[in-house]
Amino acid sequence: MEQNNGTEVTEFILLGFAGQHKSWHTLFILFLLIYVATLVGNIGMILLTKIDSCLHTPMYFFLQHLAFVDLCYASAITPKMLQNFVGTEKSISFIGCVVQLLVYGTFVTSDCYILAAMAVDRYVAICNPLRYTTVMSQKVCIQLLVGSYFMGFLNASVNTGFTFSLNFCKSNKINHFFCDEPPILTLSCSNIDFNIMLLTALVGFNLTFTVLVVIFSYVYILTAILKMSSAAGRKKAFSTCASHMTAVIIFYGTLSCMYLHHGTNKSQEEEKVASVFYGIMIPMLNPLIYSLRNQDVKEALKGIGKKCF
Ligand SMILES: *[C@@H]1O[C@H](CO)[C@@H](O)[C@H](O)[C@H]1NC(C)=O
Repeated sequence: MEQNNGTEVTEFILLGFAGQHKSWHTLFILFLLIYVATLVGNIGMILLTKIDSCLHTPMYFFLQHLAFVDLCYASAITPKMLQNFVGTEKSISFIGCVVQLLVYGTFVTSDCYILAAMAVDRYVAICNPLRYTTVMSQKVCIQLLVGSYFMGFLNASVNTGFTFSLNFCKSNKINHFFCDEPPILTLSCSNIDFNIMLLTALVGFNLTFTVLVVIFSYVYILTAILKMSSAAGRKKAFSTCASHMTAVIIFYGTLSCMYLHHGTNKSQEEEKVASVFYGIMIPMLNPLIYSLRNQDVKEALKGIGKKCF
């Protein structure tokens, strides 16, 4: 901030969506409902995996943290966005913007790594069932988890640090509904080539690495499943990774749509809609995917239901 010569930007304005002023009632209610569903679903998932002792396995350990990560990054974006739908001045303080980018960048990246760790967990469970408990020991699970949070924090702190050490003197109007890096960079009057390169390199590495881990794990998993002689065994093995596979397809599917689209002339409005899906819908969908498609979670819910009533 100190490097600013001339006018110093002390706050940003989040412009949100075009035409938001006309339909803010609808948008407010829609996003409020999505956010409430995200809170209920993810907090519920965290509690369920803590309470039910049948769910004390590596898979649910990671699922619990996936729920926590989803909760965090949805909470970094949505409350401020809801406030801006209602309020007349759509401002966010400079520090608020830094925190938002830092939290969002950390948890979105951790999400990629946790999904990759879960793929590895399914790979060991299906391809190496006899050694599962020794390979996926508590120590290994914790290491994978800490690694995921570390990579998230690394991505976010490096990108955020270099973004906010730029000069902002052009305008303080962010054409987005939260402080994401690309729209912030366009506001800077410094040279942003290095920042773009850094962002591309870090995001590229994180995505390529985690996607490759997921793809390789699933190639081995599917080969192992197809080789199984009994249909019942195949069905059982498949059902233990069906939820994860759905979550992965939705997560990386959206991402690749976003990035493949990037080359073409995409309007900023389209980009915003894509990030709504990414930042707001996915955190809501994950608990749904895991509770609707997963037998263990259903049983655990029923068990708790019985205990309570
Ligand atoms: C990394 O951080 C940046 C900026 O904080 C963010 O835009 C990006 O989505 C993050 N994600 C990945 C996968 O690296």
